[in-house]
This record gives sequence, structure tokens and C-alpha cells, in this order.
Amino acid sequence: MKYTKIGPRGPLVSTIGFGAWAIGGMNWGKTDDNVSKNALRKAIENGVTFIDTADVYGFGHSETLIREVLEEMDVKDKIVVATKAGNDFYNTNNEDDERYGPIRQNADYDYIISAAEKSLKRLNVETLDILQLHSPDTGKLQRDEPWRALEKLKQDGKIKHAGWSVQSFGETTQAFLLDEHRDLLDVIQVRYNLLEREAEKVLFKKSEEYGIGVIVRIPLLFGFLTGKFDKNTKFDTEDHRSMNLSPDKLKMYLKQLNKMKPLYEQYPDQTKAQLALRFCISHPATHVAIPGAKTEQQVLDNIAASDYGFIPYVNIPKI
Ligand SMILES: NC(=O)c1ccc[n+]([C@@H]2O[C@H](COP(=O)([O-])OP(=O)(O)OC[C@H]3O[C@@H](n4cnc5c(N)ncnc54)[C@H](OP(=O)(O)O)[C@@H]3O)[C@@H](O)[C@H]2O)c1
Repeated sequence: MKYTKIGPRGPLVSTIGFGAWAIGGMNWGKTDDNVSKNALRKAIENGVTFIDTADVYGFGHSETLIREVLEEMDVKDKIVVATKAGNDFYNTNNEDDERYGPIRQNADYDYIISAAEKSLKRLNVETLDILQLHSPDTGKLQRDEPWRALEKLKQDGKIKHAGWSVQSFGETTQAFLLDEHRDLLDVIQVRYNLLEREAEKVLFKKSEEYGIGVIVRIPLLFGFLTGKFDKNTKFDTEDHRSMNLSPDKLKMYLKQLNKMKPLYEQYPDQTKAQLALRFCISHPATHVAIPGAKTEQQVLDNIAASDYGFIPYVNIPKI
């Protein structure tokens, strides 16, 4: 396993981390907590030192499982946990969204502070390693409230590092916010993978210039880039991929995937997951990829990408 700092001001972590959305047990179909905990344990035993989660994943369940595993393994001080706030699932009066339940975006100062306090309790720590604003709309980010909340939490020692998870498909339109918050932000989290490279256009240039670390999410395009789905793949209605990898989207992605053939031919001994992950950590602006994993087998497949290291840019097909 290789290690790097998440940018000049970020913590030192393994270049492949563990994305803990799916193990929350919601939005990805049913999961078994024992299987999930074994997957996380396997990751840590094999050198993973970075976990990405959010308070909203499984409505607190992902954070709770992480705390249990870290305490059972007695490794709390060795593992960096990044969490997020900004999707209010606490307020049961919220209208029930068909797919995501009673969640409402809330980037108000008081809300972010109170959500951070709840994550501190759930993770049973004095300080959160990284707190990221959880992909708010641009309008909410143009107010100073969420940023002031991060600043205050940092001043009070409740968070070590301030982060922001950029909205999917807002990689360019939201990039101007880095100009305004470059001094506060230590890290950002970005959707980026072999088929979705919008972040390269503006966001990565700014993050490099400002010394802000980059965490890469959805590196496997929700599992698609492992090569296991085809045009006939169907997901359960409670799996978000019934929408995000709908038959139309699968058709489009499968067409784009043909361009990656030369890459797969160059590295026949590596899995498609490993090549997808190596790509994500090869850009000079990026630092760590956080594949979601549900099983020990997936973890072992994914983490091997760290040792394989960068893919030379000339070997990466354009899209
Ligand atoms: N707005 C935000 O801030 C935001 C949004 C999305 C994600 N995230 C973060 O980013 C992390 C990663 O993104 P993601 O989990 O959405 O997508 P992803 O990492 O691209 O895909 C993860 C899924 O792919 C499948 N998989 C993983 N490794 C595999 C392997 N080696 N072989 C075969 N299948 C494999 C698993 O699902 P199956 O086994 O069910 O196929 C797994 O749940 C999340 O866990 C979360 O921490 C943040």
C-alpha cells in the first residue's frame, strides 16, 4: 500500500481508501452488517487508513459501523475518517423523497454545527479528522453560513480539516467557490473516473494552484467500471443505480467504454477495477480514491491498485 498526504494541508492516508456509503445499508439494496464489517476490517488489515462516510449514509448507520470496527480493532488513532454534513435526515417532518427518504439539504450555520456534534458522538471522537459540506446546491454555497460553520468548528478544535464535496456534474460551475474559500478549505471531494473527467477542465487546475487536496469519489462509476454490468443489467428499485445506471445510461456508458479497450489490452494481468482506480490517482491534482466496497473480495481487488501506482498519461485513452 502506498501513502500520500491529501494535499499540502491534508492528512497522510493510503492512496486507496474505503467508501462507506453502501455499508450504511440504504440506497444500494440490503446489506449484511457482518459482511460489511468484515470488508472494512479486511481493508484496514491490508493497509487502508482512510475511510469516507457521511452522517446521512444509512441515517447514521455507516458512521456507527465504522466506530464499532475501529474500536474493536483498537485502531482509532491510526485511521483517518472523513465525514459529511448538510443532508438533514434528522427532521422527520421532511417530505419523503421517493428514493432517498426524508432528506433535506441544509447548509445553515446552526445545522452544520449541530450535525457535526452528532457525528462526533456517533464516531465517539473528540475531533473529526475531516468534515465535508455534503454537496449543497450552488445557491446554498453562495451564502457564508456553511463556510462560517466550518471555520468555527475548526477554531473550536471540533474538526481538524475543512472539506467540501463538490456536487456531481457541478465540477466546473461550482469551481469559482474555490477562489473564495481557498484559505479555509484543506480538501475537496470530486466525482471523477475513466468516463467522467469534467473536473480536469477547471477544478483540478484551481485545487493544484491553491494547494487543496482532492479525494476522488465514484471511481468505479457505481461498479460499472469493474466490467460486470451489461445492457440487460437491472437494479432493484431501492438501489439508486436503478436511476443512476438506468438502461439508457448503461447504454451510453457501454458505448463510451469501448474507448478503453486499448487500456485493458495494455495491462491484461490487472482487473478493470484496478485500472479504473489507478486512473483516478494518476492525475497530478488527485490524492486518494475511495471505492465503495461491500465485501472482502472487492476490497482485496481494489486495494491492489495502490501498489500498481500511476498509469503514464500517454497510456490513458481520451474520451
Ligand atoms: N456527494 C457525495 O459526497 C458522494 C456521492 C457518492 C459517493 N460518495 C462517496 O464515494 C464513495 C465511492 O463511491 P460509490 O460507492 O458511490 O461508487 P463506486 O466506488 O464507484 O462503486 C462502489 C460499488 O461498486 C461495487 N464494487 C466495488 N468494488 C468492486 C469490485 N472490485 N468488483 C466488483 N464490484 C465492485 C460495489 O457494489 P455492488 O457489489 O453492489 O455492485 C460497490 O458498492 C462512496 O462510498 C461515498 O463514500 C460521496
